[in-house]
Order: sequence, then structure tokens, then C-alpha cells
Amino acid sequence: MIKKFIFGKPVVTGSIINDIKEDNISELSCFKYDNDCSLLYTMNPNDIVYGLGQTVRGINKRGFKYISYNKDPSVHTEEKSILYSSHNFIIIDGKERFGIFIDTPSKVTYDIGYTNYDELKISFAYPNYNLYLFVEDELIDIIKDLRHLTGKSYIPPLWAFGFNQSRYGYKNKEEIDEVIKHYRDNDMPIDMITLDLDYMDNYKVFTINKNNFPNIKQYNDELLKQGIHLVPIVDAGIKAEEGYDIYDECIKNGYYCKDKNNKPCIIGVWPGKTIFPDYMNEEAANWFGSKYSKLLDVGIRGFWNDMNEPSIFYSENRLKETFKELLTYKDKELNRDLFFGLLDLVGSIDQRDDYFEEMYHNIDNKLVNNNVVHNMFGYKMSEAASKQIKKHINSDDYLLFSRSSFIGMHRSAGIWFGDNCSWFSHILLNLKQAANVNMTGFLYSGADTCGFRYDVTPDLALRWLQLSIFMPLFRNHSSRDTRNQEFYRFGMIDSFKNMLKLRYSLIPYIYSEFIKASINDDMFIKPLSFVYKDERCKDVEDQVMVGESIMIAPIYTQNAKGRNVYIPEDMMMYRFKSPTDYKTKAYTKGDYYIECNLDEVLLFVRKGHGVVLANTDNVRCTRDLDFKNLKMIKYDDNQIEYIVYLDKEKTLTISG
Ligand code: GLC
Repeated sequence: MIKKFIFGKPVVTGSIINDIKEDNISELSCFKYDNDCSLLYTMNPNDIVYGLGQTVRGINKRGFKYISYNKDPSVHTEEKSILYSSHNFIIIDGKERFGIFIDTPSKVTYDIGYTNYDELKISFAYPNYNLYLFVEDELIDIIKDLRHLTGKSYIPPLWAFGFNQSRYGYKNKEEIDEVIKHYRDNDMPIDMITLDLDYMDNYKVFTINKNNFPNIKQYNDELLKQGIHLVPIVDAGIKAEEGYDIYDECIKNGYYCKDKNNKPCIIGVWPGKTIFPDYMNEEAANWFGSKYSKLLDVGIRGFWNDMNEPSIFYSENRLKETFKELLTYKDKELNRDLFFGLLDLVGSIDQRDDYFEEMYHNIDNKLVNNNVVHNMFGYKMSEAASKQIKKHINSDDYLLFSRSSFIGMHRSAGIWFGDNCSWFSHILLNLKQAANVNMTGFLYSGADTCGFRYDVTPDLALRWLQLSIFMPLFRNHSSRDTRNQEFYRFGMIDSFKNMLKLRYSLIPYIYSEFIKASINDDMFIKPLSFVYKDERCKDVEDQVMVGESIMIAPIYTQNAKGRNVYIPEDMMMYRFKSPTDYKTKAYTKGDYYIECNLDEVLLFVRKGHGVVLANTDNVRCTRDLDFKNLKMIKYDDNQIEYIVYLDKEKTLTISG
């Protein structure tokens, strides 16, 4: 059952595409209302709170405060209430079971037992929103209700399920060729190479640095022949430089975000002085989206949208103030307060909330402050990009993923989880985030494998790879000041190769289950508690279901030789060293300690379900996979029929 309640005068976000009629607010009896317009719910001791998409901490969100207010936080540690995206969806599962989606693009705070342990308090910067209430017997039906209103999840092309090697720092064609050569020489399959900032001329979007890539079309053609796709970054801002055609056009048409005087709002990002296109304005967003044609025309079909929270290093005003204030420290004796004051003065200019107050949008010919519509920025950028890409290539075979997101964007793009760290704890965070964003429809998702910040170690790289082989978006990405982390860098070449091959062997299963999840409004990655009723599963936050047939239990502790695994039903464990080298062991429901060496990955197949595996002997990229000759692994000898998707429409039934 779905009900809709309207509070105040909500902004139209476009999240909902199948709307329903409004109900009377008196029927929203689960919440009480506070004087400050917040919603209050008294949680029972055993209530679990799911949702909120890409946030830090657990799958059960209880016990902390989360804020929907998209930002670019530098390190994803536990005290962060905010990351890049706003997914205003939660489920309360306990004495009562219901979900809510709050459709508003301004700041929302979820205090889930942070201030008072038993109280859930949802407060609003602007109390204008549509609230959708979902009441169902099964958790998964609440997910389906949300998807029913917000639409089907985006499905990228098959090659987007291959492996993507990336690094902020690959300078030119020669460096990339070298990386590809190593992957090929080591028989490690690969489908994509990401182009970060350095492919552009001076950080100017939709330009190519001619010294680094003299003929991008020819280069892209050459790589496509080898089955490799280039996936360039597209940053949200435009360098403020007269004579740069994109900037000139943006200014001429008035397509920029404004300051309070209706002038271009100048802020600082990668290129220095930058303006943002006004993505909240459909015409301006479509104009920016039409510029992807510059890259589409050289044959590129994959993009990642970045810095679209938006991320702001400084505003002109703040910078001027800072320089003025700096002078006040000159010649003073820096005692404790002054010294830390000086550090804070410079350190705090990055990513300040008050920068958003300086930005205005043209919505229906009215100047609207960014804070009113803030959380839609990346969503509207990516939605318009997808629309224009589809129009230009007359097909929906494109890859697009974005850093910032909002529910609704799941129809046109995927997301990656931003600048994580090379920490074992971030393998676990990756697993939890994957389950959480699947609830809100972002099926095409994944984290930077091996971690973006700091130096990875060989064992961390291998353990992370063993999780990422199950994630739809599978990219190894790192920052430029870190140790290189391509999978051929750490010795143990066979172990890395075998895991990459295992990923490719699993692609027919992953691709088919992904499409089924999209078609059926289902999740591709699920917490165990979304499948099994048993109480014990509610506590399991380090194992997930992948598609219909598999449970995984990755290792996320350094030097661990195994781990505790909860088996929720009869399952056959496959201990894989490679797609062809594995051992099996049957388990019945219960808790076990299971060994798992550094070169092994554990996969648990459910009774009555099958998993198809492709032969990977001569497979260098997804194009080489033979979807028609697959082997099936399963729990026992009972015959299984498995439906494989050959493309987004064609299927084949495999019996085994
Ligand atoms: C941002 C992105 C990161 C990228 C970097 C440089 O930090 O999150 O992935 O490498 O910008 O473009």
C-alpha cells in the first residue's frame, strides 16, 4: 500500500514518475509533529532502520545522525553525517514495518537515536515536501513500491560490467598504452580505461590536451579494436576564461548559476575561477548535456560525472576575506589560540556550506537560492547528460556514472562511492554502501577498488578485488599522490589474474541478474534480512546476497586466514582459486568459522538455484565471452533452469 502526503509547497524534483493522489495528513499516524515542523517516531528497542543510500556506518542506520546535504567530504570516517548523495528513503522494520520516501531537494536531517536513543527525528531546512508512505509485509515489497513510483533502474551496456582501470595521474596515451600492455601480457582481462583530469586542456571540460592525446579519435578507434573503452571524466564546472567556447556560450545564453546580483557566480575548482551551468534550469542543463557530443563524436560512449554536489574549493568573496584576515596575524606572537586560528583560517576555506548560499538558479524565471534545491544538482546534471547522449547516439547503449546523486537519477546513471581510502575497513564500508544504494535503485554502483586515498598494500588490493568481482561497477581507481595500484604491481600475479578471470567468468550471471533486478524493481545486492525471515540475519552486516543465487562473505581484516560466516539455509560453498580451480563443501543453516586463504574467494550457492560460469581461457574483454556455452554450478544434482540475458532483451534458458 502506498500513500502520499503533501507538506507545504514542495519543489518539483522529477523523482516520481508514476504519481498517486494525495491522502489526508491525519492518516499519517505513525509520526508525531514537533513545533519546529519535524517528524517524530518512537523506535522500539528492536527496530531496525534501513536506507539513506550512500552514507557511512552500517546497514542498520540506527544510532547516528545523517544529513541529506550533498557535499564533497575529504575522508569517509565514521563521524561524517554527509557524503555526496541524498537518498531520502528509510524503512522502519520492527514492531511496525513501513518505508518512507521524502521528496525534497533541500537539507533533511535524520537523527536516528543520536540525541535520544529511542527517538527518530526528521527535520527540514524548508518544510515543503511530499512524503510517500509504503506499508508492506515484506521488506522487498517496500523497495518495489519505491521503484514503482520512481521508475526502473538504468542498465549500462555489457562492456560496463568488465573491469575498469583508472588513476588520477595517467598523463597521456603512452602511459595508458603501458598499463594496457601489462594487463594483456599478464592475461588479465580489462574493458575500460578511465581518463581523469589530465586528458583535458587546463581542466577545461569538453577539451582534449593535444600534447597528451594528439589524435583522440584515432586512439579511441585503436583501443576499441582491442575491446577497450575510454571513459573520460566530465566535471560539473566550466573554467571562467574568455575565448573558451563553452564558457563564452554559457555566458552569452545566461546559462550559468548566478550570484545575488544576477551576475555569474564565480567559485574556485580545478581550473581556478569557475562558473557552474545552471543544471536546475532545463534549457541550461540540456545545453551542457548536448556538449557530450564532442566526445561522442570521436566514438566515446562512457562518462563519469564528477564534482557535482557541487564541490567548491573557495568562493571569490571568501578568498578575499581570507587574505585580509591573514594579514591580521602578521607580526603577532602565535599563542595557542592564534596558531590554531591561523590553521583554521586557511584550512576551512574548502567546501564551506555558506558557498551554496551565494549561488542562485533560474527556475521558472525566478531566482531561487541553491539551498532550496541543493540536492538535485548532480542529479539534474546527469539526467540531462543521459537525455542528450541518448538523443545524439539514438540508442541507450552508453555508460554514465556520477558522484553526486538523488533518487530519480537511478533511471539514467549509476554511481560510484567517491574518494574512499586504502583501508581494510573500507572494504566493509563498500559492501554496506552497495546494499544501501541498491535499496534506492542505484544498481549500477561500486567503490574505488583498492581505495582512492593513501597507499594500498598487496594483500589489501587482493582482498578488495575479491569483493569487487561481485560489484556491477568494478573500477580500480587511486589518487595521484599514492602508490600505483594496478593489479600487476604486487607480485602474486596468478592470484590477481585468477580473480579477474573469475569476475569475467561470472559476468553472464552478474549481467543477467542485474537486468532481472532492474526489470523486476528488485535489488541486485541485498542484505540477508531482505531474503530470510530469521532473526539472526538482522545482525549480519558483512555478508550480502548477490542476485538470486549467491551469498558472499568477503574477508575485510588484514592477515585473516578465514572468518565467521552465518549460513541462513542449506548452501554449497565454492572455494574458488580460479574459475576452474575450486573445491566445494555443503553447509546447513548455522554459524561457522570458514578458512579462506589470501588467494581464495568464498561463494555460497543457495539450494535450488544455479550460477552460470563462462569459459575464460582466451578472454581478454567482455566481447570475447561466449554466453551460449556456459557451465552451471549449483547446490546438488537436481536439474536447474537458468535464464541468461544475452543483451538487454534477448534471453536463453540454460538447463543443468
Ligand atoms: C575527485 C574524484 C576523484 C578524481 C579526482 C580528480 O576527487 O572523486 O575520483 O580522481 O576528483 O579528478
